[in-house]
Amino acid sequence: MNKVMNKKIKEIIGKYDVDKTSLIAILQDMQNEFRYLPKEALVETGKHLDMPLARIYEVATFYNAFSLKPRGKYLVEVCAGTACHVKGGFNLLEKLERELNIKCGQTTEDGTFTLEQVRCLGCCSLAPVVRIDNNIHAYLTQDKIPRILKNYKK
Ligand code: FES
Repeated sequence: MNKVMNKKIKEIIGKYDVDKTSLIAILQDMQNEFRYLPKEALVETGKHLDMPLARIYEVATFYNAFSLKPRGKYLVEVCAGTACHVKGGFNLLEKLERELNIKCGQTTEDGTFTLEQVRCLGCCSLAPVVRIDNNIHAYLTQDKIPRILKNYKK
């Protein structure tokens, strides 16, 4: 583990008391800091909270907000919920895969975008939707995708 990461992990953990209910908050801070949850961060969190590593992994893999692999600068989330699916959401995923030259679950080589599929984003009336860097792109069509991605690359 590099020293900077080690220091950051200790700093984040140090903000929290030994209280098992802090687990999600600690993982959120780690995710925000590193854009993923490094193994070392999970190990240290387990030691701090006196929780088994298996339990920490369980939580870390349950929530979509967490990733065990480094994510790109922008997270591109394609909604795979029913409303979006029937309105062509799967076409959007295909187009994004082609435009970014990656498969779902991967990160572009330059580390700019990570492409993921998620269940309902909670705004079905705007279907089909894609969320990029927490911005919802509503009523999205394939032809709008190149321009949207270009704006994030600027
Ligand atoms: S199904 Fe896509 S936002 Fe609900």
